[in-house]
Amino acid sequence: MRRGADWVDNERLITQSNEFMSSHTDSKPWTVPALAEAKHEGRRLVMLTAYDAGFARALDANGVDLVLIGDSLGMVVQGHYSTLPVTVADMVYHTRAVASVLQRALLVADLPFGADATPERALEASLQLLQAGAEMVKIEGAGFKLEVVRHLVEREIPVCSHLGLTPQSVLRLGGYRVQGRGDAAERLRADARAVVEAGASLVVLECVPTPVAAQITADLPVPTIGIGAGPDCDGQVLVLHDFLGLDSGHRRPKFVKDFLAEGGSVAGAIQAYAAAVRDGSFPDAEHAYAS
Ligand code: KIV
Repeated sequence: MRRGADWVDNERLITQSNEFMSSHTDSKPWTVPALAEAKHEGRRLVMLTAYDAGFARALDANGVDLVLIGDSLGMVVQGHYSTLPVTVADMVYHTRAVASVLQRALLVADLPFGADATPERALEASLQLLQAGAEMVKIEGAGFKLEVVRHLVEREIPVCSHLGLTPQSVLRLGGYRVQGRGDAAERLRADARAVVEAGASLVVLECVPTPVAAQITADLPVPTIGIGAGPDCDGQVLVLHDFLGLDSGHRRPKFVKDFLAEGGSVAGAIQAYAAAVRDGSFPDAEHAYAS
């Protein structure tokens, strides 16, 4: 398990950890407070999904800051049409596998469809994910989810909110489409402020026009992580299988780039992605929605 089971008993490590909270470096493990600090210092955050120990080890060793166990595993690992069939038990299984090897990256796990339908259900599922090794849970949407975010944060569970295209809303939306265009931009900005007021420490923005994501990023004191949201977010995330150029069986979204073709190996691809996110060259206009 990350940092060892007796970590909290070791005074020396606690001191080092406190120092780390005010000065994060590449070799030290990420913490939740260090994320806002990175935003403040203008350091971009590199995030990818992983679902097993092998890839998690590769991401951790090659400069990825945050690993997401996305419920995208329903599509890319289990072969479903959507993320809706994924269960809490599935998420716990994959969280345990990934957590067993991470040394440095912060581990975020999705609350799957329905697990955040009430604050009580969300708390029960989040406790299972944290006990499996997650350090933050991700929740899609705002609206009634604000109460869920507040309920978890008040109980010491760090939360990442996911706005814009929320894949768990696929039935209502009728497909996977860009969100926040036209009049919907102001609603999205208000939702982003509201999830942060409710306590979210991180906000994923998926399939949002570049200028809207840029405004939201400027509005918020916590980092935004974009996926199809342009270059102005505080960090970027991609689904591992997309980033490796694997055919997911679905139409390839505009924001996906095959980094394996560029990097030549899994390690090379991760390093190329991390470098491109940090220097702001990914995503470029070809991999973003201008409006
Ligand atoms: O499930 C997932 O992998 C995600 C990313 C697309 C952000 O939520």
